Amino acid sequence: MSTPEQALLRFLTCGSVDDGKSTLIGRLLYDSKLLFADQLETLNKDSQKFGTVPDGMDFALLVDGLEAEREQGITIDVAYRYFATPQRSFIVADTPGHEQYTRNMATGASTADLAVILVDARHGVVTQTRRHTFIAHLLGIQSIIVAVNKMDLVDYDQSVFDDIVADYYETIADLGFNHIAAIPISALYGENVTTQFDQMSWYDGLSVIESLETAPVSSSSSKTGFRLPVQIVSRPDQDFRGYAGTLCGAPMTVGDSAIVSPAGTQTSIKSITTPEGEVETADAGTAVTVTLADNIDASRGDIICHGDQGMLVTDQVQAHLIWMSDEPMIPGRQYLLKLATRSATAWVSELKHTVNVNTMEHVASKTLELNDIGVCNLSFDRRMACDAYGDCHDTGAFILIDRFTYATVGAGMIDFSLRRARNLTLQTLTMDKVARARSMGQKPAVIWFTGLSGSGKSTVANAVESKLFDKGHRTYLLDGDNVRHGLNRDLGFTDADRVENIRRFGEVAKLFADAGLIVLVSVISPFRGERDMVRDLLDDDEFIEVFVDASLETCEKRDPKGLYARARKGEIQNFTGIDSPYEAPLNAELVLDTDALSPDDAAEQVIALIEKRILED
Ligand code: ADX
Repeated sequence: MSTPEQALLRFLTCGSVDDGKSTLIGRLLYDSKLLFADQLETLNKDSQKFGTVPDGMDFALLVDGLEAEREQGITIDVAYRYFATPQRSFIVADTPGHEQYTRNMATGASTADLAVILVDARHGVVTQTRRHTFIAHLLGIQSIIVAVNKMDLVDYDQSVFDDIVADYYETIADLGFNHIAAIPISALYGENVTTQFDQMSWYDGLSVIESLETAPVSSSSSKTGFRLPVQIVSRPDQDFRGYAGTLCGAPMTVGDSAIVSPAGTQTSIKSITTPEGEVETADAGTAVTVTLADNIDASRGDIICHGDQGMLVTDQVQAHLIWMSDEPMIPGRQYLLKLATRSATAWVSELKHTVNVNTMEHVASKTLELNDIGVCNLSFDRRMACDAYGDCHDTGAFILIDRFTYATVGAGMIDFSLRRARNLTLQTLTMDKVARARSMGQKPAVIWFTGLSGSGKSTVANAVESKLFDKGHRTYLLDGDNVRHGLNRDLGFTDADRVENIRRFGEVAKLFADAGLIVLVSVISPFRGERDMVRDLLDDDEFIEVFVDASLETCEKRDPKGLYARARKGEIQNFTGIDSPYEAPLNAELVLDTDALSPDDAAEQVIALIEKRILED
């Protein structure tokens, strides 16, 4: 018999809300005699209080840790549990099954060897079953147990089971799992969970616990040398500089050559300390503090990797992305990315396709909606050290976070680095922005007029330009309608197209500013995130956001192009302020209330601000 330590199996359970995951886990714990007397007592009491199971114990109550979850009847977070049988020890991640909890499914699965996919015998294989199976495959899980639950509710009918299994096998035919078992069970009554019962004598395979005990454990998820994402730099005194973090990838030994990535600095490992003291070798998964042979600089977010098995260092990758937010992913929109201990800004530069999990077909798409799985090119705002997910899970997986709400909106796995990005360097030019601007006697700036259609952006911007011209300044006015006739003629008014519209305006404004000009931009630019993105694109103080603020009523009354009237009649879709949002600036440099101000007065206010900020130097 192997020791539990050697035979540890990490698995996760997934299925739809009512498929019975928690009941199954509770039953496994109960039958492996892992419940203590006091837990049993609570369980007994709770079962009576909640009354979900007539005359019996509801094992789901045991597992659904939080009170709130219990009362809603759904599990809302990943719960990890440890249990053991004489054959093997287990860590189980109980991941919720509700559609929008794909996120927990993804985070729970990243360390799992096996997935138990629960199917309700009455409903058979549903979209979510397929989605979870596909995600398990993407996450590199090699073994699957399909537990067809609630057999008691279909009279233990073998043909129901056989049909479901046949349907499921069709789903996964091309996914290449190493090990698949299908088991008919009743988690509620424990049938085929830990013991076999007479009702399903037609089934002569293994029970769930036997299957878990004998399933192969993937030896290691990593094909790389060690990686140590630096979490903390510890400098208790002048002489000691230690780098602390959780080791991943492969074991590390004193004397190993090492590279600090992404900088590429070479060194070797001088010492390794674990909570148990100094060691020669540490295994992946251990918390370590290491010192390096050379006096070099590594900081939080850097990854110290094996010198012979370097990492990808890149600012563009192809990745699989699982979307977890109600707000769709829009290419070009910026998100915070977290990969190991590093944070960066990232955006999808190209969405190649999404995957229809029912047919495995690739579907051309412009955005990723909640629960969509897509393949995309992802750009970072800096060079990142990373690995292909297939080579190392810890340094090949990442999450995307919304810049405003800090909610996790996506989880991804890197496929490979896009070489193209690495062959590009910026050309150094003799003449620079400062020289060009100085020759015109000015400081470049981008004055960004944002506001509803009809708020007066173009009128005010036009007046400002004339005034600047009269004062001898060199300017250029980029106007939404005009640029949409040329450079942006391919774009419409969906959220995705507007994001791209603003991105191009930002890039063009940056070029004109680089030419030394004072650039005026008049464009609705309804999204805060993208306006901020342009601000980040430019040098400090170069971006001046002017909110041309007129109420929707005023804009509609003015309706210079008759578009509001048409939008109200439903002749134009996605019209800003009507059926498409406008996010007013929170920290604009200037707010012009054009309900009250004349265009000329408004222009004077802009001029006064510009003179103060950029013309006086
Ligand atoms: S943005 O939202 O992408 O920034 P932009 O300023 O370029 O918009 O273009 C807005 C102009 O396009 C408006 O002034 C209006 O004349 C015209 N237009 C046509 N359809 C729409 C629409 N659905 N929403 C807003 N503007 C529209």
